[in-house]
Amino acid sequence: MLSGMCDFGHAHHHQPYGFLVDTPEIRALIDETQRLTAAIPDAAARVEALRPAFAALLASDGWLPESCAAPDETSRMGGGIGQYALYRADDKSLCLFSLVVPVGASTPVHDHLAWGLVGIYRGRQDETVYRRLDDGSDPARANLEIAKRQELGRGECYTLLPPADDIHYVRTISETPSISIHLLANDTACVWRHKFEPLTGVVTPFRSGYANAPCPPDAE
Ligand SMILES: [Fe+2]
Repeated sequence: MLSGMCDFGHAHHHQPYGFLVDTPEIRALIDETQRLTAAIPDAAARVEALRPAFAALLASDGWLPESCAAPDETSRMGGGIGQYALYRADDKSLCLFSLVVPVGASTPVHDHLAWGLVGIYRGRQDETVYRRLDDGSDPARANLEIAKRQELGRGECYTLLPPADDIHYVRTISETPSISIHLLANDTACVWRHKFEPLTGVVTPFRSGYANAPCPPDAE
């Protein structure tokens, strides 16, 4: 049975950590991630080993509540983009979330600051990945150039292994909103990360926030 965590009216009845959406499919992926995290110290090898379990979730139907599959007009990312927590580890070492990008909308150019896997569950996305040319020593500026672009449809996924391929944006290119599923080794929406303006080089700190769960106070 689906938990009601994405039904906003009931959100206050639930803990903001753990399985916010509790289904066997989500538990299977989180269990496998925890097993492989303990077994494989190298992040690149671990993410590779996780791909089959992640692909199994993307290939399954019926586990994502419609309330976690809808745009969010109050989005801090803008454009009606919805980010919904499905699982959050108590120690902030892992999260699973859905990202809903309305038709024609784009995310800001952003980073993630943790290893992980991202895959398409519905619709299609165009992903543009940037390469950083400066040394990162100025927190307010970045010199970026486009490293690659790719189109992704259901079941296709890519790896995040910072600093490689960690800065990107995605745009929905289907005639329905796209939904991507993210498994990342932090509490992504609550981490202070960065938005980038590639044309001007301006870097702005941001916390995207979850539509269905609070972040700890700003001090963290
Ligand atoms: Fe992203």
